[in-house]
Amino acid sequence: MKRDLVTIDDVSDETLLSLMDLADKIRKNLRGHAADLPGFLMGSLFLEPSTRTRLSFETAMLRLGGRVITSSDPLTSSSSKGETLLDTIRIVDSYVDLLVLRHPAAGAARLAARAARGPVINAGDGSHEHPTQTLCDLYALRCERGKLRDLNVVLYGDLRFGRTTHSLARALIRFGASLIAVAQGDLELPDFVVRDLLRRPGIGARRVVVDDMEDVFQRRDVKALWIGPESRLPARPSDGRRLPLELRDRMVDAIYVTRLQKERMSGAATAGAGLPILDHRFLQSPPFRECVVLHPLPRVQEIAIEVDSDPRAAYFRQAALGVPIRMALLLWAAGAVELPDGLVLEAPKLVPGYACENPGCISVLERGSVPQEVGLRSDDDPRCLYCEERARET
Ligand code: NCD
Repeated sequence: MKRDLVTIDDVSDETLLSLMDLADKIRKNLRGHAADLPGFLMGSLFLEPSTRTRLSFETAMLRLGGRVITSSDPLTSSSSKGETLLDTIRIVDSYVDLLVLRHPAAGAARLAARAARGPVINAGDGSHEHPTQTLCDLYALRCERGKLRDLNVVLYGDLRFGRTTHSLARALIRFGASLIAVAQGDLELPDFVVRDLLRRPGIGARRVVVDDMEDVFQRRDVKALWIGPESRLPARPSDGRRLPLELRDRMVDAIYVTRLQKERMSGAATAGAGLPILDHRFLQSPPFRECVVLHPLPRVQEIAIEVDSDPRAAYFRQAALGVPIRMALLLWAAGAVELPDGLVLEAPKLVPGYACENPGCISVLERGSVPQEVGLRSDDDPRCLYCEERARET
């Protein structure tokens, strides 16, 4: 079976850990792998801006002794002439051995993986997922904290349009994490992510109010969603009263900051009330004293420049790990190494009579060439299999 990476749930926990072990070995001798994939050709098709993801993938393939062809400017690709993604994929797939795709539409990578003969790696599909950033994030957490299990992680910023937190939350919850999602205004984790986390055995969520951190958040009563193992969550208040989260009593292992994805915000979606910039004052607060600061980058204004010199600022180290972990991933996807497999989720059952109406989904944007596919898993509503948003009955 070909090895695609469309969502982070395509790879089991065992595979994720083995990829990190392999990256550890690669990192010790980055220049010693030039004979690992000789003659292998990777196509990098980036129909949205990128610096780190594209360059780290290309660096990874070149360091493995393979070669790369690139299309990195949407304006010079035929998609700007109206070519469908399906046609573009059919062509590029016929040229290369493996394809890395970034696309502005949710579900684009799934469509590409189904159309392509060779493996397809999702380098970001709209505001849906970014699984290889998660590989890099998990690897950074493991390197910085020395473990991946049972971490307390604060997700901070634009959690709705920022695709990196969607894949990261899915992965971290599998490793027993407690997530405290603090969103910028109304940009909360989307329903498709939260529902997915809550379907996992033993996982619960509480809407909480952080009310002991006024000095850090510069306002009272910051709302948060706390998701994690039910055994570590507070009891639900029976009288429907708000549930305070005493963040000050908690040790945060990592804070994962994201920028506002302004390019994905329509008029209807606004950032709402702002969250403060992460700065020295913020990091002096007890829960953050021992934490590492992660960010998928690019940073715009969410983290003060002064934090860069703080040893807890791990975001540049995190970005550098993108090369060895992507080298490991490419070796796996190319079939050059065997790692333990394992299925993560039950496959959804296809259900007729439903259609996707998410304007950001590839099945809506390119309706003529993409069949509607809606699936059902136990305890859930019918969802589009491309973007995972709820589907409408037709
Ligand atoms: C992220 C992305 O493209 O989703 N960048 C990246 O790949 N490192 C995050 C972002 O653009 O904010």
